[in-house]
Amino acid sequence: MEKVIDESIQGSALELASNNQNTRKLFIESYGCQMNFNDSEIVASILEKDGFNTTQNLEEADLVLVNTCSIREKAELTVRKRLEKYNAVKRKVNPGMRIGVLGCMAERLKSKFLEEEKMVDLVVGPDAYKDLPNLIEEVDAGQQAVNVILSKEETYGDVSPVRLQSNGVSAFVSITRGCDNMCTFCVVPFTRGRERSRDPQSILEEVNDLEQRGFKEITLLGQNVDSYLWYGGGLKKDFEKASDLQKATATNFADLLDKVAKAHPRMRIRFSTSNPQDMTLDVIDVMVKHKNICNYIHLPVQSGSDRILNEMNRQHTREEYMTLIDEIRKRIPDCGISQDMIIGFPTETEEDHKDTLSLMKYVKYDFGFMFAYSERPGTMAARKMEDDVPHEVKKRRLQEIIDLQLEHSKYNTHKFIGKTVEILIEKSSKKSDAHWSGRTTQNTVAVFPKEYYQIGEFVMVKITDATKSTLLGEAVSYAKGYEPATLITS
Ligand code: SAH
Ligand code: F3S
Repeated sequence: MEKVIDESIQGSALELASNNQNTRKLFIESYGCQMNFNDSEIVASILEKDGFNTTQNLEEADLVLVNTCSIREKAELTVRKRLEKYNAVKRKVNPGMRIGVLGCMAERLKSKFLEEEKMVDLVVGPDAYKDLPNLIEEVDAGQQAVNVILSKEETYGDVSPVRLQSNGVSAFVSITRGCDNMCTFCVVPFTRGRERSRDPQSILEEVNDLEQRGFKEITLLGQNVDSYLWYGGGLKKDFEKASDLQKATATNFADLLDKVAKAHPRMRIRFSTSNPQDMTLDVIDVMVKHKNICNYIHLPVQSGSDRILNEMNRQHTREEYMTLIDEIRKRIPDCGISQDMIIGFPTETEEDHKDTLSLMKYVKYDFGFMFAYSERPGTMAARKMEDDVPHEVKKRRLQEIIDLQLEHSKYNTHKFIGKTVEILIEKSSKKSDAHWSGRTTQNTVAVFPKEYYQIGEFVMVKITDATKSTLLGEAVSYAKGYEPATLITS
């Protein structure tokens, strides 16, 4: 199961093959969403050219960077604990170590970390990573360094991210940065700034490069991919002011998806995250048109209650969301659909909660990511509303939606039993070294005996059993058109 916030990778320290000329060591750890992990790969790429090789050994690091997340209070607390740990190592074994904070916590907590608590030497926001070499120089000269300026243009389109956390099969490709939607609970518009899109040409080049290096699947990544709009650069909100020519030649998400899928017919294409208010039916039509675009949509809804959706500023009703689901299923009957849900948003009543449960029953999501509301300073909800749903009530409601989701997940995985489905092999199964793990087009994990198959191959797997989240089966053949080249001997 591919998670928006993947708990199993939280805090991973990333390492790549070293460059012999580099003399300094960088330890970089990431928290939060996939976008943050992808940003860390961009940072490692920038610093590789500035004399740093990555290490997984904290004690030997010259520079320790932590890429932070602000989405919920828990994420902030985790990062704070890590900073305490780095400082302890610095005091005891490595006094020359420099410590820096990157990402979403940078803006809000910069003065706290730098001045009040003296926990860090360096604070860098998500749009300022190209400034890192200069900032590190300042730190080397004995100063503290900060750059948390959010940009109108920065998309790192010209930085080729090193692939730190990759299995060599699937990779993430950022296509937009920031978000303009201003959901009232969400800090992203404040921490990551206004929305801007990356040049389609640089996206196509990155995907091309990945294909040449043997990657088989890419996920186009953004806070709200459906809102992608390239008209020569600049903020999404300034599109109104663009010239007629710019408007006529603009590329939207459906166009981009079409271009990427057409240019790389042998690669699986995924995208995340979709937003119900911005997703258009032509995106679904493009999915239908190209066999290599996976039949899977991550479509967060957050609540099933119209009143709460309105308070959240989600810009769509429950009915409109259900119609969108119907339209998706009309065009792609077997489409995998997953959700993000927040329970306990201010003023949420038992009635609102029942609406959430009933919406879930209507959609029967394949899987989902469910959270208790966490008040974030600076957001509209924090400013205007009281966090008034008691902790115990939040806990119970969260458990209810998790239990219901597990039922639906099981219902969906069991529908696969008896079918033969195409799987891209990604890695060894966590539980058994004799089994491969891969995913269906719907993004459901399947596990099966390895036999003679290899990582990165597309195989047909007959599903014989299933747990709540995983399909179990046996490979029956290579997928059609993906047989390994046979040796021609005379
Ligand atoms: N569009 C983004 C959403 C970012 S946050 C994306 O690409 O995933 C991921 C999820 O965290 C949201 O969909 C929401 O369900 C949850 N979330 C965001 N702010 C939250 C808050 N204040 N409290 C609880 N959950 C929150
Ligand atoms: Fe956050 Fe809503 Fe954007 S959840 S990332 S403001 S779409």
